[in-house]
Formats: sequence, C-alpha cells, structure tokens
Amino acid sequence: MTTNEPFTSKDGTAVKVDLGQRSYTIHIGEGILRDAGQIIGPLLSRPKTVIVTDENLARLHLNTLNKSLDGAGIEHTAIILPPGEATKSYEKFSFLCDALLENDVERNDIIIAFGGGVIGDLAGFAAAVLRRGVNFVQIPTSLLAQVDSSVGGKTGINSRHGKNLVGAFHQPLAVIADIALLDTLPPRELASGYAEVAKYGLLGDIGFFEWLEENAKALFAGDGQARIKAISKSCEAKADIVARDEKENGVRALLNLGHTFGHALEGATGYGSCLLHGEGVAIGTVLAFRFSEQNGLIASGAAKRVQAHFASIGLPTTLSDIKGDLPDAQTLVNYMRQDKKATGGKLVFILARQIGDTFVAKDVAESDILNFMREELQNR
Ligand code: GLY
Repeated sequence: MTTNEPFTSKDGTAVKVDLGQRSYTIHIGEGILRDAGQIIGPLLSRPKTVIVTDENLARLHLNTLNKSLDGAGIEHTAIILPPGEATKSYEKFSFLCDALLENDVERNDIIIAFGGGVIGDLAGFAAAVLRRGVNFVQIPTSLLAQVDSSVGGKTGINSRHGKNLVGAFHQPLAVIADIALLDTLPPRELASGYAEVAKYGLLGDIGFFEWLEENAKALFAGDGQARIKAISKSCEAKADIVARDEKENGVRALLNLGHTFGHALEGATGYGSCLLHGEGVAIGTVLAFRFSEQNGLIASGAAKRVQAHFASIGLPTTLSDIKGDLPDAQTLVNYMRQDKKATGGKLVFILARQIGDTFVAKDVAESDILNFMREELQNR
C-alpha cells in the first residue's frame, strides 16, 4: 500500500488512498511538517495558499509551517479560529467561507486545514462548497485526526440536532501527519485519539490489536517507531475501507464501531470536555462488545479483554466512569436515532463475532437496546 510519489519524506512512510483520479497520499513521519512546502508545492496551480488553523496550533506550530511554505516560495496567510468543538458551527462556517473569499481563494487554489478534527472537518467542508469546491490538504495535528478524521473525505459541522449532521464527502489532495506534533498534545487528547487506533484492530485485524496490547505503553511513552507503525497501520486499514466504500453504503460503516453508543453518550453529556469523542468511543466499543456477548454472538471474555486494554491506557470504559448525571435509557436511545447510519428509522450497530471480526447489524430491535441500556444504567 506504500506508493512512489514524487516526494516522500526521508523520515517517514506513505500510505495511498486509492480512489482513481481522486487518489492521494498520506505522508507519515517525525518532523515532516518541515516538508509541507515541498509536498504541497507541486500540487498548487499558483504559489499561494491559505491556512486554516486554531489559536493553540497557531501558537505552537504555525511558525514551522510558515517557514516550510516560505522555503518553497509559496505565498500564504492564516485564518485563526478559536479551539474546540463549538467552532464546528454554522456561525464559524460562514465566517470562514467569507474570510477565504476575502483572501482571494480561487477555484483552483488549495487551502490547508492545519489542526485536529474540528479544523479538518470545518475547513474541509468550507473547501467542499466554496466556489462549488476548492482543493484542500489536511495537516492533522491530533492523534484522532491523524488516524481517522483527516483521511477519507468526511467533512462537516454540527447542528443543534447532532454532531456532523451538515457536511459533505470531499477528499483532500494529500494528508501530512507529523508525529512530532503529538508531543504537544494534552495526554487526555492523546488517549482519546488512541481509541480510534485500537478500533482498527478490533474491527478487522486481531494481529494489530495484539500488537497494540504489547506496544501501547511504548506509544504513549513517545516511542517514534511505535507511533509511526500504529498510525500507518490505522491509515492503511482506513484507506482500504474507504477505497472499497467511499460514501459509506456498506463496509465503511464498520469504522463506526462503538460510535452509535458513543455518540449518544457524547450527546447526553453535551459534546464537551466531560466526555471527549474518543472517550465516548472507548465506552461505546466496550458496550458494543458487551451487547454482542449478551446476544451470544461472541464468546464471553472478549468484552473484558477490550475493556482491560482501554483501561490500561487510562481511557474510561463504563458508564460509571462518566462524571455527573446521565439521562434515562429511552433518552439515550433517542440520541442514537440521530445517528447518520439510521435507515428507515432503524438503529444500526457494529457488533462483533470475535475481536477483529465485526459486522454491520441493521436488525437490532430497539427494545433490546433499551433493555440493555437500562441494565447498564442500573449497574452504574
Ligand atoms: N470516522 C468514520 C469514517 O470516516 O467513516
């Protein structure tokens, strides 16, 4: 799955997302933000770009990106937004579109999304619709964005009805994942992003999950090789699924392992710092395995193993790990109904036959989920 692109950083590896004419490369390496100008330069139709980023990134790393673009002779400006999920709003979206137009972004230009999932989703969505579509490059700065949200072309903003409900599929021209940027990530954010790394093992590759059981500690301790391997394996898994099902008509739904439960918990806790996305996914994944066990789909013990792994790196794994009140089971199920996967009013879950073998279940009775959530809440 590695490619021979005109430019591949000497310090990293490359994974290709195979989508015909819209194929692109994910560059992964340590310190490769310094190579951004060289990677982006050949993709530009004129030597000019606009960076979209947030205040934290601007303070910590914008200078490195600016220097790299300067070195490649690329003119650039930056639009700097407030950090946090609240930025994925209609208000900031319209502000950003106008700011990009004020900066003279043309149809053939490329904008750079430089940040975590929030910036990637927002800037990607602006790119999808601005002048009916301009190109963009993702420079993901969080683990979550490097292994999941920057790859595969999902872009969007939140509505008061739920997360990511207004958006578009719009593939980037390239992704540049510099693992050195993870060093400045708050530990809780790193752990939260890790839930999406483990997801790839759990949904389809038990060998990768076993490797993570052995190596997660090294990855958290800052081992560069372990980080590059974990991120490239995750991106390969995602690239493979996206190449088979770009618009999520089938197998791509597997990437939502733990997300139907997780999104409901995020919604119920206000999509804030009470429960980060990956934390919701970690609890949601354990719930998906527990539900699979209760329904006799998977041998007992699997859910405990998944739970033990998440707990070993400090992720929450049960409803009792969530501070504060939770609503009743019916309200949680109502949140699940907002899920984009829901079709014909039916809830869709990703369930497991074993670790590394999951499937899309479209026929789960709502009453079964309601009873399951009631029990989980009682045991809290
Ligand atoms: N994060 C799930 C997907 O990209 O399909």
